[in-house]
Amino acid sequence: MNDSYLIKGGKPLKGEVILSGAKNVALKTIIASLMFESDVILKNIPQINDVLDLIELIKSLGVKADFIEKNTLKINSSNLKSNRVNLQYGCKIRVSFMLFAPLLHRFGECFVPNPGGCRIGARPIDRIINGLITLGIKVDYDSETGYYHAKIVNKPKGTYRFEKPSHTGTELLMMIGLMTDEKVEIDNIANEPEIDDLILYLNSAGANITEEKNKITVNKSPLLKQKEAFTIMSDRNELVTYATLAVASGGDIEISPIDESLITSFLEIMVRAGAGVKKISENKFRFYYGNGIKPVNIETSPHPGFMTDWQPSWAILMLKADGSAVIHERVFENRFSYVEELRKIGAKIDFIDTKVENPDLFYHFNFEKGRSYKQIIKIQGMAELHNAILNIADLRAGAALACAALLANGETIVNNASILERGYENFVEKIRKLGGEIKKV
Ligand code: EPU
Repeated sequence: MNDSYLIKGGKPLKGEVILSGAKNVALKTIIASLMFESDVILKNIPQINDVLDLIELIKSLGVKADFIEKNTLKINSSNLKSNRVNLQYGCKIRVSFMLFAPLLHRFGECFVPNPGGCRIGARPIDRIINGLITLGIKVDYDSETGYYHAKIVNKPKGTYRFEKPSHTGTELLMMIGLMTDEKVEIDNIANEPEIDDLILYLNSAGANITEEKNKITVNKSPLLKQKEAFTIMSDRNELVTYATLAVASGGDIEISPIDESLITSFLEIMVRAGAGVKKISENKFRFYYGNGIKPVNIETSPHPGFMTDWQPSWAILMLKADGSAVIHERVFENRFSYVEELRKIGAKIDFIDTKVENPDLFYHFNFEKGRSYKQIIKIQGMAELHNAILNIADLRAGAALACAALLANGETIVNNASILERGYENFVEKIRKLGGEIKKV
């Protein structure tokens, strides 16, 4: 299998990008669909590796899931026959732990492997498991097999307050709440718009979920039935990747469809960096190279802040800024896998050690005293990038490396393309449409 990109960089990228559906909504709507009584039709589902792997997983449980058109997925889960997720999927598909919800809904008990650590950090699910237990689910963990065994003794009810918010945690507990005979409240929730899209989907099928600022209430709901096909929102992470790349390359692109409210903090910061940003129509934006790129420091944080998924793309833009910029990662503890790789093509990036007051509150991961963390980098701008061989270690870092190669002089090889393609649909085609020279090798 060809799993590398050969990229000849150095051209300004110009043209138009049509965004695919959001990965982080597609995965959850597919999982939630297994709680539905009816067949389900989901539109705008991107054909990316994460989605294709998840489809393979649910098929292994007996579910029928097929693309009936390019991005239209039909799911029928009436033959869901197994309540055990195969171990091979546990670490391959991180969101597989979200199957707790449909499997408990269908069978009253289930066996789900611990997703384990991943490339962007330890990513424990301790808060999420505590949430399940607090809502009344019995959960045991067998460290020998690596499996959680969860069982419904009484229908879930009550309130769980996340000590620190979790995006997939909020979504999973919300789906668990659908089984309540009374009410489930989830407090100190994550506020990502992808969660709102999942709520929209569930409510459109009869669920009774309400959301206030920091709290979600799931009221007793009837069995879920889809009334009409649901179209998921666009991928705002994809937008950020292409917008930063275009501006860094000295180019000019139009991107749609996107709702402005999904990218407010990104737009503000692009303007501060001196990028040209224009709203062309209700759901279309133009991003273009203006008069140089200014260095802008960022700190990642959950929505509505500057998202952690955007920081590798920000690093790419800052490589071309006329000064140095600092990125402080607060959400995950290992999201700088691209730094070492970027150094290979001539980027000057250093880790900085800065003491933070109350790190336990400041960082969103479980901060361990005495352990050393690398959370801050300083990027020197005006980089002259040259060719090299780069290796992708995680999804967003992968996009950053491919983009850096598109800015570099000469021919660069970027290995492990399939990791990037876990989250980016038609990456090669989209880049080519913008005039970039890229092919799979
Ligand atoms: N955390 C814990 N314990 C828990 C839950 C979370 O320590 O029980 C930690 C995490 O390790 C992390 C922080 O809390 O350090 C926040 O994690 P969160 O649970 O919010 O992230 P997630 O749900 O695992 C989702 C997205 C990520 C995105 C983050 C932030 C999906 C499938 N993943 O992850 O997307 O970066 O929220 O919005 O929705 C990506 O698309 O590349 C990606 C990583």
